[in-house]
Formats: sequence, structure tokens, C-alpha cells
Amino acid sequence: MNGLVLARLADVPPPGRGALRCRAGTVEIGLFRVGDEVVAWRDLCPHEAAPVCRGTISGTRLVSAVGDYRYGRAGEILRCPWHGWEFDLATGQHLAGGSGARLRAHPIEVRGGLIFDAAGLAQDRELIIAERVDAAAGVIVLDLRPADDAPLAAWAPGAHVELELPSGRRRHYSLCGDPADRACYRIAVLREETGRGGSAELHEAARCGERLLLRRIRNRFPLTPGRHLFLAGGIGITGVLAMARSEARRTGHSRLVQIGRSRSTTAFLDETAELPGAELIMTERDGRPDLTALVAGTEPGTVIYCCGPERMITEVKAAGERHGRRVIIESFVPQPAPAGAGDHRPFQLELARSGRVIDVGADESILEALHRSGVDHAASSCRQGWCGSCETRVLAGVPEHRDTVLAEEERADADRMMICVGRATGERMTLDL
Ligand code: FES
Repeated sequence: MNGLVLARLADVPPPGRGALRCRAGTVEIGLFRVGDEVVAWRDLCPHEAAPVCRGTISGTRLVSAVGDYRYGRAGEILRCPWHGWEFDLATGQHLAGGSGARLRAHPIEVRGGLIFDAAGLAQDRELIIAERVDAAAGVIVLDLRPADDAPLAAWAPGAHVELELPSGRRRHYSLCGDPADRACYRIAVLREETGRGGSAELHEAARCGERLLLRRIRNRFPLTPGRHLFLAGGIGITGVLAMARSEARRTGHSRLVQIGRSRSTTAFLDETAELPGAELIMTERDGRPDLTALVAGTEPGTVIYCCGPERMITEVKAAGERHGRRVIIESFVPQPAPAGAGDHRPFQLELARSGRVIDVGADESILEALHRSGVDHAASSCRQGWCGSCETRVLAGVPEHRDTVLAEEERADADRMMICVGRATGERMTLDL
């Protein structure tokens, strides 16, 4: 943790009264109260075109030189003055149906009436395996604690960590513990014999006292406001368990359907049993569930969160389309990549930090061209465009996206790309490398 005090808690305006703006390093942020919490958003819309935290309050409107920021729902909506997009102030999520765009959070820590910059908490930290439990056949649950005295970065249900394993492989695991516990991250790992080796390595190497490197925390699966159905297949329970728990705490009920083969192969059965409204389906005992009927049986407006095997995801997505339900999936396996526009063409790549220019051939990816040229500091994991590890900022040029990580709105922003599969549409592009 860098320990910088950003502001006094008392100076943050009450809910619905706008932001306290301040600077965290080189980044402008706005601190807002939402209920009893303080959230910090970068003072920039997702298009990086307009500041979103400025202005003065007049009634229920935050008025700025550019336009109006309109507050509604008891001060929980923030509106970009430039594009008119509205964002949930608590989650940063763009409120348009189907949109994956969101405001960018800045990590903060509130202690002793002060707000600290917590950017250093969320990346490149050593974690110690404090506990390992065999939770089901082929599934281990690991409790990871920080190797230093600083608390772990706060997270919201739906978040996952990117861990670097002893071999240097990077892998992503959903956080399935308690977000209120700032001393422990809990993950579960299914050993996949036909996988790429990460789960087998962790099953063999994960002993209490061993260290893993936390590269970063991401949340591409945030919980939106409203009514939900959580569908979890197999180890997919890790993606939705924290969400279902949080909903049960908030509303006293949580519609979670956990599907597993048998009790011996299914993890977190006790946790699911404690959730009011949760249902357990064991396929060896109960047969395969009718996922289409489950989706069709939800009330209109229900958002369906689905995490599980590919076949299940495909079925639930199709049912969502057929019955007009929004389906949000979390998948750590390759999804069909969108087709790129046109054939591969060579282009020149400028690396902004060194000023170096390298050629990217028609038959190689940006990542491969970087490695060929001796540039090895670009992170990567899946190298197939679905994990998000190699996300890189685009400073000039227009990317041709070929990944399945970015939402449509994020693609349209053209300000970042997955360099393991993405290319340039023109003859030259500059990346923040
Ligand atoms: S390495 Fe996984 S998206 Fe590029």
C-alpha cells in the first residue's frame, strides 16, 4: 500500500450531493458516498472524453460546464454529460441493457476517518497459502493471505484474481470467500487433466506456507441491480457463490441453482444449503436439469448469471435469447472468437515507453512479434483472446479486436486491446508498452 492519504472521510459530501475530487498520483478521481460506503471513480467517462465527477449540485442535478449530471434513485446514478450514458454510482456499471461498459474504479481504503490510496494493494503482491482443503473429488479450496501487513484490496462479488504460479503461468480464479474479510482471498481449483497445466500445477504445488504472486484483481462479472437467477455448473459455483450470498444477505432470498454430478464431486454444498432459496441438482440422482425451462420460468427483467461448462453456457445463452432474458456469463475457457475484419496484414508497432518500432508480420500476433524482438515484459496467459491478461492500452491507431474479453462498447472505445490476438486496422499503431 502506498499509504498516501487522499482525503478526510468527513469531507466527502453526503449521498446524492456529488463528489469530492482529488488526485491519486497522476489520476483524477471523484469520491462519492453511496449509503454508508465511499466509492472512488476515475474522473473520466469510459470513452475518456468527459470528466464525470465535476460540477455543482443544484437540487437533484449536478451541473457542470459541459452539461448536466443527473442524479436519480436517491443519488445512485451518475450521468456522463458528453454521451448521456448513465452509470450505477455503486457499481460503475453502464445501465443500458446488454452494455458491458463501466466507470473505472480507483482502489481506496477507509481507516480512522481517512481515505487512503490503495492502488498498490490490488496488484503484484505476494500471497501465502494459509489453508488447503480437499473440498470435493478433484477440487481444492485455498485460503490466501497477504505476505505483508497491509490488508488485501477490497473486492465485490464476481471478481477474480490473476495469480502467477511458481512456473510463471498466469491463471484466473473467481473469489468465492467473504468480501468483508480483508485478510483472506478464497479460491477453489478443479484439477483438469486435459487442461493447459495450471490446475495440475496448483494441485501439486499448493502447500500451506507456499507463496503465489497476485498479479491483479479484475471484475468483468459485476452484479447489476435488480432480480437475478444464478446458475452454477460444477466448479462454476465459484463464480456466483459470493453473488448469491450477497443477495441473500441483502434481500433474505437468493435464487441459486447449483448443478453437480454427485455430492462427492461438488464443492461448497454446505454453503449452498445455508442460502434461502437455493436449489441443488445432482445429475446422477436427479437427471440433467431443463435449463431452458429454468430460464423461461423467470420473471421478465430477471438477469441470469451463469458460470459452468461450455455446454451449459451455450444452452442458457440460447434460452435467454429465446425468452428475452439477459444472460451474463463467466467463463475461463475459450469462447468462439469474433471474426476479425479481413485478412491479416503486416503493420508497424510503436512502443511508446521506449520509442522502439517493430514490424508485426501477417502471420504472427503482436505478442509473438514482441517476443521475437526481445520484448518480454508484456503479460499473457491464454494467448487465445479470452482471459484478459494481455490487455494493453492503445495510444494511437485503431485496433482490430479478435478477443472475447471486451464488451462491444469497450471495443468501440478503441483505447485498449488484447495483444495476443488483436491487430491493427491501419499500417501503424502505438501501444503503452
Ligand atoms: S493472453 Fe489471454 S487474452 Fe491475451
